[in-house]
Amino acid sequence: MARNLKLKVRHDTDPVVRALSRMSAHVWPPTPGSRRWLVHTELKYGDPISRIPIHAVSDQDPRTATAKKKAQCGGDRMSSRYHGYAPMYAQYLAPFIRANKEVTLAEVGILQGTGLAIWSELFPRSRLLGLDIDLVNARRNLDALRAKGAFRHADPELHQFDQFLDNTTYLESILQSNKLNIVIDDGVHLDEAILATLASAAPHLAESFVYFIEDNDHVYPSVKAQYPSWNVESFGEMTVITP
Ligand SMILES: C[S@@+](CC[C@H](N)C(=O)[O-])C[C@H]1O[C@@H](n2cnc3c(N)ncnc32)[C@H](O)[C@@H]1O
Repeated sequence: MARNLKLKVRHDTDPVVRALSRMSAHVWPPTPGSRRWLVHTELKYGDPISRIPIHAVSDQDPRTATAKKKAQCGGDRMSSRYHGYAPMYAQYLAPFIRANKEVTLAEVGILQGTGLAIWSELFPRSRLLGLDIDLVNARRNLDALRAKGAFRHADPELHQFDQFLDNTTYLESILQSNKLNIVIDDGVHLDEAILATLASAAPHLAESFVYFIEDNDHVYPSVKAQYPSWNVESFGEMTVITP
């Protein structure tokens, strides 16, 4: 019987396997870091948020005045109704969750801090850096996020950061002796800014790291060409880099 089951488990067309996976889809609470957990936790902290005001823009930002003034949205990375990145985050964060060690994580482009709140639950006691040209929205929202359960162990460190600049030494001064294990770029989404941020972060990456680049489906070849020794994977609008 057990042998039969083992054989059957290899086929996802098997009705038993399909029934088991349907059942686990309703198990509550979902496993931390799983796709369902990521979707649910983002909804808890943010709901997809739109029309968030802008308080600062980079002098180097080449977008048109109208584009720069366009109100921003966030809290929309996980669910398949929006960007649908939960499977990639679940897959690439799993080794860090399993290792159950403190990590240093930086999110670039934090808006109201929804992402930082998710990461604080997933990596408690870790060092969380929120980097953004405009910290007003996140600062205003921290109390609301805390009330929903975020940042139980420590508040995130918020630093003003312009993605268009060379931030290598700035990051060094922020990190001190730490190295970055996890980086999420959800900022301007322009190739130029993404590549400048990656170049600034590269010397500070830990031996074991994952670097996510969201909402850009064309920067991937440049990243691959500039960092040939790394694994660079493209998933549509998401690029994921590992050593
Ligand atoms: C899409 S929102 C981030 C959404 C957020 N990660 C979330 O999950 O809700 C983009 C963010 O990029 C920031 N940003 C815009 N220009 C920037 C720049 N030059 N450097 C760094 N951040 C910038 C904006 O202030 C905004 O907070």
